[in-house]
Amino acid sequence: MAYKTLIVEIEEHVCLIKLNRPNALNALNSALLGELADAVAGANSNDKVRCIVITGSDKAFAAGADISEMSDKSFVDMFGTDHFTDETESLLRCRKPIIAAVAGYALGGGCELAMMCDFIIAADTAKFGQPEINLGVLAGIGGTQRLTRFVGKSKAMDMHLTGRFMDADEAERSGLVSRVVPAKKLMDEAMGAAQKIAEKSLLTSMAVKEAVNRSYETTLTEGVLFERRLFHAMFATEDQKEGMAAFVEKREPKFRDK
Ligand code: HXC
Repeated sequence: MAYKTLIVEIEEHVCLIKLNRPNALNALNSALLGELADAVAGANSNDKVRCIVITGSDKAFAAGADISEMSDKSFVDMFGTDHFTDETESLLRCRKPIIAAVAGYALGGGCELAMMCDFIIAADTAKFGQPEINLGVLAGIGGTQRLTRFVGKSKAMDMHLTGRFMDADEAERSGLVSRVVPAKKLMDEAMGAAQKIAEKSLLTSMAVKEAVNRSYETTLTEGVLFERRLFHAMFATEDQKEGMAAFVEKREPKFRDK
């Protein structure tokens, strides 16, 4: 499908989604978020795709929700349409792993979008921030909740209350991103990680994603029980037999998602 605000390519088993509103630093407007939700849903249901990478440009992953689109909205417009809820929930419904590859600005909704992915790989040029306070609003698609879980209360409060930006080193130190690489190597690193994930059993990747995400939603005892039941369930799959047989036979496994 041809998109106006995205470039979508499938390389081997990885769907690469590039946000593409260069004149607005990839600001997230309704068109872009609607297309993104559609592209992610398409990748989720495409049997060829086993992992997804979302990225932006060298200058910006995304500089936030589109301020010019939002500035004249009323409470009724925002609440009445449940602004951006369908789009973000559609992203969160994706069962396949999603990596955010972030260079440049990931601000406001851009930072929130990156945090909705399963993990973030950052270029050394990345800058994260929740500067909504400067606009007289606060984060609206999960920033106060997810940033706090990533970096803890003190840093999250600092970021949301002062609106300051965090560079890539601080983001890595704080646990917001999983790795930082030189900007030139960002896409190789992200696509390499995605290809590695794509070699695994998709059944297992989906189970990992469900189990790790469950840790945000439940108690330790319930989360460990959920994990254990999934672990037990894996023994009903051919991929468990193949993975363990390959180890014993000292060869690479060939997973078939069965
Ligand atoms: C609309 C934006 C934009 C945004 C940048 N642009 N960010 N347009 N919405 N969020 C546009 C600019 O208007 C400008 O267009 C062009 O992109 C380049 O931006 P500049 O400001 O000229 O670039 P620069 O000087 O390099 O500054 C970069 C920047 C700055 C620091 C990232 O653009 C900035 O502060 N942007 C806003 C960041 C922000 O507040 N984000 C939070 C939004 S609220 P023209 O046409 O002039 O060239 C939010 C809430 C989410 O995200 C929750 C609910 C969905």
